[in-house]
Amino acid sequence: MDTKVVTVDKEKPDLQVMRMAGEILRKGGLVAFPTETVYGLGGDGLNAGSSKKIYAAKGRPSDNPLIIHIADLESLEKIVKSVPPKAKLLAEKFWPGPLTMIFSKSSRVPYETTGGLESVAVRMPSHPVALAIIREGGGYIAAPSANTSGRPSPTRAEHVCEDLTGKIDMIVDGGAVGIGLESTIVDFTEEVPMILRPGYINQEMIQEVIGPVRMDRGLLITEEKVRPKAPGMKYRHYAPKAQLTIVQGSSSQVTAYINAQCEKAVREGKKPGVIAADETVSAYRGAVVKGIGARNDEEEIARNLFAVLREFDEEDTDILFSEAFDTPRMGQAIMNRLLKAAGHHIIDLDSLF
Ligand code: TXA
Ligand code: MG
Repeated sequence: MDTKVVTVDKEKPDLQVMRMAGEILRKGGLVAFPTETVYGLGGDGLNAGSSKKIYAAKGRPSDNPLIIHIADLESLEKIVKSVPPKAKLLAEKFWPGPLTMIFSKSSRVPYETTGGLESVAVRMPSHPVALAIIREGGGYIAAPSANTSGRPSPTRAEHVCEDLTGKIDMIVDGGAVGIGLESTIVDFTEEVPMILRPGYINQEMIQEVIGPVRMDRGLLITEEKVRPKAPGMKYRHYAPKAQLTIVQGSSSQVTAYINAQCEKAVREGKKPGVIAADETVSAYRGAVVKGIGARNDEEEIARNLFAVLREFDEEDTDILFSEAFDTPRMGQAIMNRLLKAAGHHIIDLDSLF
């Protein structure tokens, strides 16, 4: 398949290009486009055939449900059974934006889109290109992150090209995304609303609007028995080719430990790599070191994380170490992605010594 790549202005996307993308979607084709979180791989969410094509292009297991993206609030009522009052409050506060909510689905939504579930995930993104494409494409665009299943989510069109060229009809390049981590998911099919995936909008921000929300226990516990509720959260994900270990502790302990591990790796003939905050990049020796952002700029760290994991796939490093990034506001979201990339391999130096 020939994949068209078209560049547009993020703020003022060319209407003709938006129409072309919309037509492909209405005919059942696939278009990747930027959102404020990560790039999405769009198909008509009410067309079972389109959803099947999405799974095939990503190599994604078909029990892993898709998020339907809408461009206005009226669209929500057509695809869900009912909207609880607390969900309405969150929509008023955070839509359009990096929030996904889960409801009982209406009969209009095919099971192919929901991975066989009776519930459906819905998000109204804020990115002008995404909104235009959703409208032109019929209003209900199923869009998972536009990566090959298991790879880091794409934060630039180049990442989408790496993974999906030849497999989809069109890639709309709107430049680098703003947030860099996927949306926060809140499940409203539970008695007490539950966060299934942490993101830019954190638990505290949600609780300020609707009161108590729970965190899915499966996110916090690594035991096999406690599975996360969002099917996609159970897979080892974003995984670089080299085994990644996260090292937690005081800054000087962490650099000393990682340097010793890198030295050992080099002695064994391996090529080590390190993911570090900008401030500590120069403290590492004998490894490929990549700065991810300033420690006090958590938005920069979030924005760079997936790109840095992808960059390490290009290096022929065999073993990777990362500092921990338990930052105040987005730390939960950043560490959730990093832990998945590391297959939950984390060393806490405070508990070792
Ligand atoms: O920021 C985002 O949410 C991006 C952009 C493109 O909008 N999309 C995205 O989609 O991250 P995806 O498919 O990569 O991740 C969706 C997650 C998966 O973990 C999936 O299992 C979960 O949402 N999910 C979707 N529908 C669900 C449902 N009905 N019940 C539970 N989990 C659901
Ligand atoms: Mg994804």
